[in-house]
Amino acid sequence: MSRLMATMDTEMTQGLSDDPEERRKTSLQMAPSYIRSLLDGTEDGDFLALDLGGTNFRVLLCKMCSGKCRSISRKYNLSPETRSGPAAGVFDHVAESIYMFLKEENMLDQKLPLGFSFSFPMEPLSVRRAVLTTWTKTFSCPDGVGEDVVDMLESAISRRGDIQVDVVVVLNDATGTLLAGSYVDHTCHIGAIMGTGSNMAYLEKLTNVKKWDQDFDEPSQVAIDVEWGAFGDNGSLDFLKTDFDRAIDAHSHHHGSFTFEKLFSGHYVGDLLRLILVHLTERGLMFQGRGLDKLGVWGSFKANYISDIEKDTDKNVTRTWRVLEALGLTCVASDDDVAILRYLASAVSIRAAQIVGACLSVVTRRSKRTRSTVAMDGSHYRYHPKLQHMISAWLAHYVPQTTVNNLTCSPSVLPLGSLNRDRAYRGIIVDHFKQYSLLRWRVSKHREVAALVRPSHRLELCNAIMVIHGYSTLLSA
Ligand code: GLC
Repeated sequence: MSRLMATMDTEMTQGLSDDPEERRKTSLQMAPSYIRSLLDGTEDGDFLALDLGGTNFRVLLCKMCSGKCRSISRKYNLSPETRSGPAAGVFDHVAESIYMFLKEENMLDQKLPLGFSFSFPMEPLSVRRAVLTTWTKTFSCPDGVGEDVVDMLESAISRRGDIQVDVVVVLNDATGTLLAGSYVDHTCHIGAIMGTGSNMAYLEKLTNVKKWDQDFDEPSQVAIDVEWGAFGDNGSLDFLKTDFDRAIDAHSHHHGSFTFEKLFSGHYVGDLLRLILVHLTERGLMFQGRGLDKLGVWGSFKANYISDIEKDTDKNVTRTWRVLEALGLTCVASDDDVAILRYLASAVSIRAAQIVGACLSVVTRRSKRTRSTVAMDGSHYRYHPKLQHMISAWLAHYVPQTTVNNLTCSPSVLPLGSLNRDRAYRGIIVDHFKQYSLLRWRVSKHREVAALVRPSHRLELCNAIMVIHGYSTLLSA
């Protein structure tokens, strides 16, 4: 973890440098967004918002009044064909969805200000101009890169000719989360996403942004889109990749890039766990060595299965059995397999939380704030029952007095930063061990796994299966 944190710190500084040679060394884009002020709760009015970047596209109507925001939102599915077809097709779908939304809301005659959350790397040119750097995640359109995102949206809107909007801002979803966080908590200075992909944005002092070539007027700060999804694309994180991570990369749409988010984000984490299961099953350690025809299918193990398994609290482990049913594995699965599966789901989740917690703590430390709030969002984060608490625990471990605020589920700030840091941290770890003391005796007949589990090596229990099968020792405290 300390190597990861030191690498992140160095690469952030390189990314802000005014020396192009230095900037070439980093894998972090560190793009200044031109957003200089956050929200303060006085922004009243009706606004449209678009959220494009995951599998679904969302249109929202936000009614902001006296520091409170009420919103209506609708999802419009984007087919895999649209996501890999011409960019104009994506924006035509966006324009059509805006039309359907406004029609449904009886608002076709209104011209509302619109904020566009576009969850891809961009080179911002102004608050409402940004050039697409690359498609990522499940998008692989052959064109669009190098083009202005707002131009593409406005062209699609004028091709239809039946809706009117006033695009006032285009921003990345991490920057959007930072802004949303600042609306409910003015100490918020970091926004992070753990969804299909992952990213982080934060507020930086202009004097630290050496490459900044615009004015230094007040407020002398700017939101930086870090694009940490691509962290490690220069090889700097090779030390923590496992064979499973390398297999994920080799199979992905964007081979050789987006190293960091492939370690834990929603689009990849299900396959990560699936590959470990395949590995154990091929060696006869799970599912009686059977079921590989089902387990071998890419994408068959969804990220939300991990959340479901992690939600299991009843002694019949009903949710985990349901996941096995969805995978078609109930007839080959035993109670031992269920225990191992739960262990693995937890191990993969802890790895995600620790990596994210460690990297967030780098930004918190650099800011030298004594109190800071991190706003987080993204489907994987939102639906996972433990990520928020685990990330908070790791943050409390690495930097005291940090509050993690999950905006989506609870707009109120969780008082975790004020918790005794040891209590918060230990709570998570103790919980983890309680769950897995059960596993200890269940797996006893699997010699390879059982050999790893010694009651005296409590902390190492977390690492056990992961280490032996190629994972780095990420979980040592
Ligand atoms: C990917 C995109 C990034 C986005 C993140 C979360 O990493 O490159 O721009 O913020 O996913 O959606």
